[in-house]
Amino acid sequence: MTSDVTAGSDPLGRWHRLADGAGGSVLLDGFHALKHAVRFGAEVPVAVTTDRRAALALADELAPDVRDALDALLTEVPQAVYAALVPRPHPTAVAALALRPSRAANLERLARAPRVTPVVVLDNPRNLGNAGAVIRLAAGFGATGVVTTGTLDPWHPTVVRGGAGLHYATAVERLTVDELPAGPVFALDPEGDDIRGVRLPDDALLAFGSERSGLSAALRARADHLLALPMRPQVSSYNLATSVAMTLYHWSATGGAPHVP
Ligand SMILES: C[S@@+](CC[C@H](N)C(=O)[O-])C[C@H]1O[C@@H](n2cnc3c(N)ncnc32)[C@H](O)[C@@H]1O
Repeated sequence: MTSDVTAGSDPLGRWHRLADGAGGSVLLDGFHALKHAVRFGAEVPVAVTTDRRAALALADELAPDVRDALDALLTEVPQAVYAALVPRPHPTAVAALALRPSRAANLERLARAPRVTPVVVLDNPRNLGNAGAVIRLAAGFGATGVVTTGTLDPWHPTVVRGGAGLHYATAVERLTVDELPAGPVFALDPEGDDIRGVRLPDDALLAFGSERSGLSAALRARADHLLALPMRPQVSSYNLATSVAMTLYHWSATGGAPHVP
């Protein structure tokens, strides 16, 4: 796409036009976030570093598949300029702005049938770090997407930082419970049936409650099954992201497989 905000030969002008635009750009903070975003097809109109040689040496070592793309993208800027562009300079001194995928494209991916890998649903999550960790897990297991309900923005810069740029490897959207994609809902709750006796289907929606109050009434009403992760008495619950990790692992270990498109 070439538009007024992404056009022009001056990278810093492009950065400011994108950053000041109406919420369509995503800050990729650090080498790994940029590497993942490029690898999974993000459109990245501008990328800066304080040390091109060091950034490309990292690419040679860790990401030769995207080395040429990074070579073409990265503009070297003075330290003071870089520090003014990003709120918390990353140790790799690399930052970029990417375009956010359209909601329509994500909804189409989430609704596509037959679904070959589950969708993770976070019901009103509160912690940005947890949301980022879950998106990273979903990407690793090849999940179709991560849907959040409630007010947290799953594209918040702190979530993108926690997700290491892997928002581009899965479909990340905020929806209401009524708008969830079709498919059987397996909701995780300590009071449910033991997950170890259940095979999770590839088209499942795997739903997890809020860190504060667990599953909402609306999500419980939509759930087809309530499942519990093994936990000894007197422990109240696991952390949200670790619960997602165990559940995706259970899906993969009982027949599901990370999907390589
Ligand atoms: C931190 S827990 C929520 C604790 C919350 N205080 C409550 O009342 O449920 C966040 C979510 O992780 C999942 N979870 C945590 N421990 C679990 C367990 N032992 N079995 C199934 N799900 C669990 C559930 O989906 C839960 O809603």
